[in-house]
Amino acid sequence: MRQAGRYLPEYRELRARVTFEELCRSPELCAQVTLQPIDRFGLDAAILFSDILVVLDAIGVPVAFNPAPQVATPVRCAADVDGLRWGRAEDHLGFVYDAVKACKRALAGRVPLIGFCGAPMTTASYMIEGGGSREFEHTKAMAFTEPALFGRMLERITTLLVEYLAGQVDAGVDALQIFESWGAAFAPDDYRVHVLPHLRRLVAECKPLGVPIILFVRGNASLLTQVADLGADVLGVDWSIDLGDAIDVVGAHQVVQGNLDPLALLGPEALVTAKAEHIVAAGRRARAHIFNLGHGISRHTDPDRVRHLVEVVHQSSGGASGGA
Ligand code: CP3
Repeated sequence: MRQAGRYLPEYRELRARVTFEELCRSPELCAQVTLQPIDRFGLDAAILFSDILVVLDAIGVPVAFNPAPQVATPVRCAADVDGLRWGRAEDHLGFVYDAVKACKRALAGRVPLIGFCGAPMTTASYMIEGGGSREFEHTKAMAFTEPALFGRMLERITTLLVEYLAGQVDAGVDALQIFESWGAAFAPDDYRVHVLPHLRRLVAECKPLGVPIILFVRGNASLLTQVADLGADVLGVDWSIDLGDAIDVVGAHQVVQGNLDPLALLGPEALVTAKAEHIVAAGRRARAHIFNLGHGISRHTDPDRVRHLVEVVHQSSGGASGGA
């Protein structure tokens, strides 16, 4: 959940000298940034420093980060979709795999490395909208007026993402996380028809890669129900639902991850302690629970609050990597 990033002075110091894109494209800098929160806080896993939209460049959709992502030429009609460089993306993604290898070398087995991608619809939404969105008007208009085109686009993105994740595993990642950050854009029945089949295929085709798959969905309880049986090894839960209620929804046989509201870290230590202990206690009812934030960390977060959070979680769950 952006454990590396602008809330860390050491990251800001590097970013003053290089752009976000340069960071992502330099394996050595990428490894340096990936390890910053590991060195500082003693977290139990590292996540590759990159972005879910880095992959788009490889199919001919340039993305600028200002720092919010911007796609200057949105993809909205059949000619746009069919004109992309589908099928030759692998030739352009070597820098990500080199970054994975550099991270693995730098970590030297200290903690596992998580690779990732956006879910097909979340990825598509940035291409169609041209950036972030509140209403997802263009995305939903395409799904509702040209369902075959929308389906074709998501199908091709899914094929791309399977190859991309396979490349990350080949390069050495120990687990994969899929981010469906904008699941709530669609009503539950529309999500089931237009989006879920592609996410199901992505998970199914990544299973044989042999590493655990964490599926994070941000949205609502209905979405959690829909994704619960896709075969992901871990279900990531956002902060909008009590973790105990999420476990009721997906079943106590599942492994869950989450779900502290990242903005709780803007509050005092005592609040962070209480909320973290509540989540650790709630998670005990699941088959296993990986403590995490319920969405991306705010750049206004005091790193000392994060240190405090890691200490509270380790203490209340029985030590680093223990029990949780
Ligand atoms: O967690 C990590 O440390 C790994 C790196 C990571 C980033 N983005 C770095 C980043 C990961 C896993 C992501 C995933 C991502 N990116 C998602 C899925 C998770 C989520 O938050 O829902 C999404 C939707 C994006 C798209 C994206 N990229 C947005 C919305 C932004 C703007 C963020 C902001 O705070 O303004 C980005 C840019 C981005 N990606 C930054 C970072 C550190 C900020 C860029 C900078 O440093 O200038």
